[in-house]
Amino acid sequence: MSAETPFEGVLRQIDDTVPFEPGYYNESYLDRRITARMRRRDTESHAEYERLLREDEEERQALMDALTINVTEFFRNPEMWDALRDVLRDRTSEQRRVRVWSAPSADGREPYSVAMLACDDPRIDESRVEVLGSDISQEALDSAREGVYHTTRTTDIAEELEPLSDPDRYVERDGDTFEVRRAVKRLVDFETHDLIRDGARDPFDVVLCRNLLIYIDADHKGALFDTLEASIADDGVLVLGMTESVPPDRSDRYEPIDKRRRVFGRV
Ligand SMILES: C[S@@+](CC[C@H](N)C(=O)[O-])C[C@H]1O[C@@H](n2cnc3c(N)ncnc32)[C@H](O)[C@@H]1O
Repeated sequence: MSAETPFEGVLRQIDDTVPFEPGYYNESYLDRRITARMRRRDTESHAEYERLLREDEEERQALMDALTINVTEFFRNPEMWDALRDVLRDRTSEQRRVRVWSAPSADGREPYSVAMLACDDPRIDESRVEVLGSDISQEALDSAREGVYHTTRTTDIAEELEPLSDPDRYVERDGDTFEVRRAVKRLVDFETHDLIRDGARDPFDVVLCRNLLIYIDADHKGALFDTLEASIADDGVLVLGMTESVPPDRSDRYEPIDKRRRVFGRV
């Protein structure tokens, strides 16, 4: 067995001391985040940073925050939402319940966008729509359930909600604070779920798995896709992030509904 490199030593420290699974993620992603923290702490080497992690609880927390990729938006990549609008119009017109899974949901803005779209579009019957948001991060799910979002120096919530005809119907605004209204919240449930470890969920008509695959190590992508595949109904739809794709060895199981917007039908 070869000796552990200093970088591997840092990863082992993470594995041992913070609730984060470095083994899931690709090395370049981990390296970028760790290097950024090392720069902030003026640390010259991985060996020195490993020592710092061992001794400094605050740094362990700061690294944990840096590693948790919870960036999200309402109606992220608006062009995808036009494709999803057609899918929801089509499915709800079939007079049945339509189940949508936002996995991962981060702080809830993606699943709430689905519910808001359903309420906003007169050709989507929102009474047939049920949305589940799930994530591995308890903290993200706590914010999701609360449903309160703030405009900050880097986030403009009013701008994110622009695809809606009348955003005030779906959020209550108080200055820079936006609270999701009950009519939207009642369409959405949240649950903790690890897409690599926890396996499939009930079949869903639409599964959104956006902006997680890009961070996942090749060895774990297969397990993640197994979960997704077993959770999509026979005639269901899978939506990936704009820079993500179906792995080549599984491409015969999907046909593009809108390839550019990463919307696929299960075959
Ligand atoms: C960049 S956000 C994507 C949120 C949303 N889908 C979007 O596109 O805006 C990635 C989320 O994946 C979650 N995550 C990371 N590993 C996960 C796993 N193994 N299972 C479920 N969620 C995970 C993170 O906690 C984070 O909230």
